Amino acid sequence: MKNMRKWMMALMALICVSAMATEGVHFTRSGVRDMLIRVSGQERYLLIPIEEAAPEYRMQVIEDGRIVRTVVLRLAAKGKIDYYVPMDLSAFNRESLVLAVHVWNQPDGERLREVSPMEYIAWNELKLANTFDTSNWDKYRPIYHHTPLYGWMNDPNGMFYKDGVWHLYYQYNPYYSMWQNMTWAHSSSKDLIHWTHEPIAIEPDVLGTIFSGSAVVDANNTAGFGKDAVIAMYTSAELMGQCQSLAYSTDNGLTFTKYSGNPIITADIPDFRDPNFFWNEQTNEWNLVLACGQEMRFYASSDLKNWRYLSAFGSGYGSHSGVWECPDLMRLPVRGTKEHKWVLLCNINPGGPFGGSATQYFVGDWDGKTFTCEHNDTRWMDYGKDHYATVSFSNAPEERHTMIVWMSNWQYAGQVPTKQFRSANALPRDIDLFKDKDGRYIIGVRPSLECEQLRGEEVTALPEAAIIELTTTSKKNPTTLTLFNSKGEKVVMTIDPKTNTFTTDRRHSGITDFSEAFAAVTTTPLYVNAKKYKVVIYLDRCSLEAFDADGHWSMTNLVFPTEPYDRIETNGKVKIYNVNY
Ligand code: FRU
Repeated sequence: MKNMRKWMMALMALICVSAMATEGVHFTRSGVRDMLIRVSGQERYLLIPIEEAAPEYRMQVIEDGRIVRTVVLRLAAKGKIDYYVPMDLSAFNRESLVLAVHVWNQPDGERLREVSPMEYIAWNELKLANTFDTSNWDKYRPIYHHTPLYGWMNDPNGMFYKDGVWHLYYQYNPYYSMWQNMTWAHSSSKDLIHWTHEPIAIEPDVLGTIFSGSAVVDANNTAGFGKDAVIAMYTSAELMGQCQSLAYSTDNGLTFTKYSGNPIITADIPDFRDPNFFWNEQTNEWNLVLACGQEMRFYASSDLKNWRYLSAFGSGYGSHSGVWECPDLMRLPVRGTKEHKWVLLCNINPGGPFGGSATQYFVGDWDGKTFTCEHNDTRWMDYGKDHYATVSFSNAPEERHTMIVWMSNWQYAGQVPTKQFRSANALPRDIDLFKDKDGRYIIGVRPSLECEQLRGEEVTALPEAAIIELTTTSKKNPTTLTLFNSKGEKVVMTIDPKTNTFTTDRRHSGITDFSEAFAAVTTTPLYVNAKKYKVVIYLDRCSLEAFDADGHWSMTNLVFPTEPYDRIETNGKVKIYNVNY
């Protein structure tokens, strides 16, 4: 009886909602299954109210009786609206357009039991508009790092360089700032620092959402899509499986057409993704690496469409405490020599040195068929907690190996205290190999040369965005650098000549309670014994990237001080530069 009354109330509320709905947006209920929304206004965007704590619901966009898109939403339930996101309706025929929100056949959530979906405040708050304001309202948005204007970002994808322009695609959720609805968004840059936001490049289709992958410039038209066509390969991901698909672009990566023969590679394992491919000059064919559970599988092709399986690598090597993802195989020069070595990057989640996700790598040889690793120890590319999904640009000039790194960790990426956007990319980095004192080949990392343009004037007060150089003054005692604010929040960095390490302690850095895994101390070996040791630190509101001045290591960590760190305490020699952006 009580329930009956509840439903009656809900129905009444719905009827009221319909009457009160914004002009141009009308609701009807169909049976007990869907909320149907008709949009008759001609404005370009439907602005959708989102509440991040609400359960996920599937919305189907139906045009002329056919489902043309499915998106997952967290519609504002009874709490406050966190923000609006726009759905661009300009491509749809308004006469026949119906948006069906499946409110009943979704996984149950706490909130679902608390509030009937029929009573959601979202129904009252949908709006139509011709513009969507993307100006920044998030206090932690970095000043000089790449971020999405709004929404969620994870892995960098399909990066390539062509005609003086660096193209960066990335895993993107346009519908709220948490992982879902994977799409390839696109940004381009002439200097790797200033990025232009381009239109969305690849959208989900019936084969699934668009997971990570890579892209090449097909200079010899091997695939038949045209000379210099940009060919992207990505994982089509469905709840029930993953397969690989191709898309090509004949306008320098602005728009992509999906290949009619998709999918091109299938398998019978659940984790089968993140294709990374390149032209192998030694064998004159394309090579491809795919992450498959806890191994990497290699393939070869002459036309990018038909791939033959070659071999697998992984068993017995490196960390296996998580799933292997986002591979990259490249031939790196050894610093100061004419020697080269093949290096396989392998992102792993979880299982990183400080918990959660991280990038490990293997040094060895690739003969066009098999990858051989020449060491048994596990090697990490970065010694912070926020360095993942690292892959390189294809076709980079001057034989550079330029990388983009997603600056977060799967342990808490969805909970960090930002809202308008979630996640930034780290500064671009160039890598090579060096030999350490034990003769091991280690990846050497430096900020890409383009980062030098960021260095402004030397200053005395610490700005929100700064480049800080720390040099040791003692060969015996630790050199420390503390960044702090008037709230007593601090980050302590230490160069310790006794242990030959550099450490960042962010346990008291500000907001840390959004995840138990956030408060952490991270440590890197210095690799060299220097009389004077210098570390260069890039601070950008919520990130600290430390680099050995001689390019031996990097350490990437996020911090969320409740007010900016504006003071420094140190027993070392410090230079602070403001940032030109
Ligand atoms: C790595 C990853 C990839 C996958 C993508 C999905 O962070 O899990 O393996 O393709 O994210 O967004």
